[in-house]
Amino acid sequence: MDKVIKNGTIITAFDTYKGDIGIEGGKVVMIAANINSDNAEVIDASGKYVLPGALDVHTHLQMPFGGTISADSYEAGTRAAACGGVTTVFDFALQQKGDGIIQTAEGRNKLCAPKACVDYAFHVAITDLRPEVLDEFKAAVDFGISSFKVFMVYKKEGLMVDDGVMCKVLEKAKEVGAIIAVHAENPDLIDMRTEQFLKEGKTSAWYHYLSRPEFVEAEADIRAIHWAKSLNTPLYLVHLANKQGMEEVKRARDEGYEIYAETCPQYLHFTSDVYKREDGRNFVCSPPMKGQESQDALWQGIKSGDIATIATDHCPFQSYEKDWGKDDFTKIPNGCMGIENMYPYMLSEANKGRLSFNKVVELCSANPAKIYGCAPEKGTIAVGADADIVIYDPNKEFTVSKDNMHSDVDHTIWEGTKFNGYIDMTFSRGNLVFKDGEFLGKPGWGNFIKRKARV
Ligand code: URP
Ligand code: ZN
Ligand code: ZN
Repeated sequence: MDKVIKNGTIITAFDTYKGDIGIEGGKVVMIAANINSDNAEVIDASGKYVLPGALDVHTHLQMPFGGTISADSYEAGTRAAACGGVTTVFDFALQQKGDGIIQTAEGRNKLCAPKACVDYAFHVAITDLRPEVLDEFKAAVDFGISSFKVFMVYKKEGLMVDDGVMCKVLEKAKEVGAIIAVHAENPDLIDMRTEQFLKEGKTSAWYHYLSRPEFVEAEADIRAIHWAKSLNTPLYLVHLANKQGMEEVKRARDEGYEIYAETCPQYLHFTSDVYKREDGRNFVCSPPMKGQESQDALWQGIKSGDIATIATDHCPFQSYEKDWGKDDFTKIPNGCMGIENMYPYMLSEANKGRLSFNKVVELCSANPAKIYGCAPEKGTIAVGADADIVIYDPNKEFTVSKDNMHSDVDHTIWEGTKFNGYIDMTFSRGNLVFKDGEFLGKPGWGNFIKRKARV
C-alpha cells in the first residue's frame, strides 16, 4: 500500500464510521478498523472527518462570454477546485456554429489536458442542432460525453435554443443514454423588462434582478419540465433559484418523473438584497439571487430530497470587467466565483447543524457522480473507488478572503464569510494536492473522465 489514512471518521452519503483507508495506485484498496501500515505513508486523521472529494458539475473556465473570457483558466480553476475539496470538475464546452459535438469536446480538451490539476469532464452545450449533430449524439456518448446542455436564454449571445430544439435533444438524449441540462429563464420577458428599465434610466445592478425576477425563471422551469414530462425524458435543471420552480420540480418528482434540480451555494446564502450594495455588480449572475422566500424553498428542497445536487456555476470575472457595468447593468459580464467555496460552505452548514454531513456528501459528491455517469469510481469512499479524498477538520475556523483563495480572480463574493470547520487536505487519486492552505498539485495531473451512458 502507498498510503494509509488512519483513525478518521469516514463519511459517505450513507454511512458514518471510524476506520482506516488503504490507498494504492490512486485507488482505495482497503477499508478496515485497523490497517497494518508498515511500508506505507501514514496520514493521521484523528479527530478529523474523511470524505469523498466533491464533484463540481457546473463550471465555466476560460469561457468566451459577456464580451470577454471568464477569468479562471483551466489551471487556475482546477487549482482552486483542489483547494476547495473538489476533485472532479465538469466544464461546459460551447459548440461553435458549424462544429460537431466531439470536435467541440476535443477542442476544449486540448486546452484543458495540459493544465488540469484535478480530474475533469465536459458537458457540451448545443447551440447549432443540424441533423448531423443530432446523429452524433450516440458517438458522443461512446466518446464519454453523456450529458448536453441547452440554454433557454442568451439569444443575442447566440446560445439560446427554441422549444423545438429542446424537445429534439431531450428525446435523442434519452434514446442514447444521455441527459439534458437546461438553463431555464424566459428570454422575451428579460428583453422586454430590460428595455423598459433602460428607457427609464434604471441602470443599477438592482435592475439586473428586476429584469429577471422569480416568475421569469419559474416560467421557463415550468416549460422545460412540461416538455420532459410530455416526452417522458429525464431532465436536469441547472442553477435553480426560485420557489415556484422548486415547487414544480417537487410536483413532477412526486408524480414519478425523472427530474433533477441543481442549486448553488450563492442562492442558499445570498438574497437579491446584494444587488442594492455598492458592489452589487460583483454578484451579477443569471439567474440572479432571489428573495428570502425562494431561498427558504431551496433549503426545504434540500431537506425533502427534491434538490439533487449542489454545484457552483463558477464563472468569475475580474473587477475591471464587472466595472464595465457600473452605470449600466446590461454591460456587467454575468457570473460569479465559488469553486473553492462550495464544499467548505455546505460542510460548515452541516457543522452548524442545518443538515447532516451525509447529506452534504450526497449533494456535492454521490448524486452528481451517479447522475452524470462517473459512479462508483467517483462520489464515494469504497474499495475500488478512486482515492479522491478530503480530510476535514470540524474545529478549524476559516474566514474567506481573496488573499486565501487560489483562483486568478481579484475579488470574491464570499469575502468575509466565516466557516465553522475547514478542509485540511485534498487527495486526487491518492496524490496530495492541498494541505494547510497550500496548493501542492500540478497542472496536467487531471485526467479526462470518460463517462458512462445512462441505463
Ligand atoms: O451568470 C452566469 N450564470 N454565467 C455563466 C453562464 C450561465 O448561465 O450559467
Ligand atoms: Zn446558466
Ligand atoms: Zn452556468
